[in-house]
Amino acid sequence: MERKEQLYEGKAKKVYATDDPQLIIVEYTDGAAAFHGRKKGTIAGKGSINNRVSNDLMRLLEKQGIPTHLVEQLSDRETVIRKAQMIPLKVIVRNVVAGSLSTRIGMPEGTRLKSPVLEYNYKDDALGDPMINRFHALALDLCAPEELATIERYAFRANDILRTRLQQLDIDLIDFKLEFGRLADGTIVLADEISPDTCRFWDTETGERLDMDRFRRDMGGAEDAYQEVLHRLLEE
Ligand code: TMP
Repeated sequence: MERKEQLYEGKAKKVYATDDPQLIIVEYTDGAAAFHGRKKGTIAGKGSINNRVSNDLMRLLEKQGIPTHLVEQLSDRETVIRKAQMIPLKVIVRNVVAGSLSTRIGMPEGTRLKSPVLEYNYKDDALGDPMINRFHALALDLCAPEELATIERYAFRANDILRTRLQQLDIDLIDFKLEFGRLADGTIVLADEISPDTCRFWDTETGERLDMDRFRRDMGGAEDAYQEVLHRLLEE
């Protein structure tokens, strides 16, 4: 599979066309951004780690019945994926209070939630991705009601599968963000990535943060934390 022209360049990824109109190649870079691009930097080695972590977790979800865009890993940083029409929603699932939820409801980070919470952010850079609910998503016609039901089912199932898997590695899945797309035949697939950029991973024993918060909050040690997640996932 060969890379053709570049279609898109984001903060942490570049996307290329291929010979096949249904397939594209994503290249993960070391670029890091937070707070809607107001904070930018790099995390050395991140691209290669996120490529492998995301593919490993997507394969696991695929095996357990959640369709994904994943086709095959091409190289350290590159993966072939199915082209999908993206639904402009960030789908966030939370098990423990952290980040923006902690600020919003005034509860300390680390408070366990009685049941998982699903939130939507409307993907719009100019608006700063405002939080909306499922009624807004339907009223704005971001997707069909059946598609939204599928997305919610997949998001909660992914939470169960990922939590169980990560627990075996002494990682507590605090929260994470998913994005979905629609293939040419209408199938809803899990797209984008699942990595320390898009999840909160806390060490079960020490509570140490093994994710993007190390960069967002200038805690240092982001490179080592990302490496640690990859090692735990693949060292079995
Ligand atoms: P938040 O606490 O900032 O709302 O983030 C919740 C989770 O979603 C956290 O694991 C980070 C992830 N996330 C992204 O990956 N991208 C985003 O743009 C946002 C807002 C959150």
